[in-house]
Amino acid sequence: AQNERDSLFIVLGFAGKFFQDQLFENSEGKSIGLSYFKERGFNEAIIKKFELGYALDEWDGLLKAAKAKGHTEEMLLKAGLILKNEKNRVYDRFRARVVFPIHNVSGKTIAFGARTLRTDKKEPKYINSPETEVYHKSNVLYGIHQAKQAIRNEDMCYLVEGYTDVISLHLAGVENVVASSGTSLTKEQIQLISRYTKNITVLYDGDSAGIKASFRGINMILEHDLDVHAVVFPEGEDPDSFSKTMSSEAFKTYLKEQAQDFITFKTNILTDGGRDKDPSNKVKVIREVIESIALIPDGIKRSVYIKTCAGLLDIQEQVLITELNKLLIQQQ
Ligand code: GTP
Ligand code: MN
Ligand code: MN
Ligand code: MN
Ligand code: MN
Repeated sequence: AQNERDSLFIVLGFAGKFFQDQLFENSEGKSIGLSYFKERGFNEAIIKKFELGYALDEWDGLLKAAKAKGHTEEMLLKAGLILKNEKNRVYDRFRARVVFPIHNVSGKTIAFGARTLRTDKKEPKYINSPETEVYHKSNVLYGIHQAKQAIRNEDMCYLVEGYTDVISLHLAGVENVVASSGTSLTKEQIQLISRYTKNITVLYDGDSAGIKASFRGINMILEHDLDVHAVVFPEGEDPDSFSKTMSSEAFKTYLKEQAQDFITFKTNILTDGGRDKDPSNKVKVIREVIESIALIPDGIKRSVYIKTCAGLLDIQEQVLITELNKLLIQQQ
């Protein structure tokens, strides 16, 4: 019901403020949370822009404060902010973590992501709010509220993997960026971006998981008739870490100059930047690229990309068209 949704927004808003207050006013928050963000190069302005916070190393930090302000355990549970154990005791979900509020398009806090500061790997690096009445993670893009105007202005949206990638791009002056944050890209997320632009540039981590995710994401984007480019980062770097190795200007130039159309991107990766000249690998690359092209609904775009592919992979266009048509018939 609308009433319940409004009550959830209220308690989530309270929690967001509470975590922010802990970061700036509590001694543990300042010495642990705030110093962590500063070490990562996040200044106060960016911390406030993204409403970052800190959850104390306590079982009931938020619970106590919320109850004192009249919020009920029932609403805290429904909002995913507290958990109940087997003995029916309730306790805070987010503890001893820095907190990244997740907003809907209009800027209301609907969920949280929270990062551990421990490095012993005994617990997950990030935990997130569960699905609630106001948070369906497959419909949400981290940063959309802060990015939507810039996405319209630039008529392009950068897509990254993580919270910190979004924030570091803003720090570098690039505001048209959102993250899928842990979920693999969904149809709903693409539809959300397509309200603002039909152009996406994928900036996934420079590791095998990132490359795999980018291939999958590219195909999803093509299927929804959006245009897609991608930028490769050096092995082991993500947009956040890579941005810290150079000036903002150099980073922005990198993003612009390294953006490749999806065919060039896939071909480069699958041929090790053109170094792999093995014919049987070339066959695989061609098939992989045609499979992507076959997903594009628009026939004009398909024929343009077939031309690109023929040039890049040095193969006759007609051969590609024949294979493409086979795939298109299979899809029907
Ligand atoms: P940093 O290490 O803080 O720079 O984070 P990152 O964003 O670079 O993390 P990574 O590339 O490992 O993962 C990308 C995104 O996936 C994160 O921003 C999270 O949203 C999500 N993620 C990463 N690790 C976990 C995890 O252990 N659990 C869950 N639920 N999500 C995760
Ligand atoms: Mn859902
Ligand atoms: Mn990664
Ligand atoms: Mn990172
Ligand atoms: Mn990463």
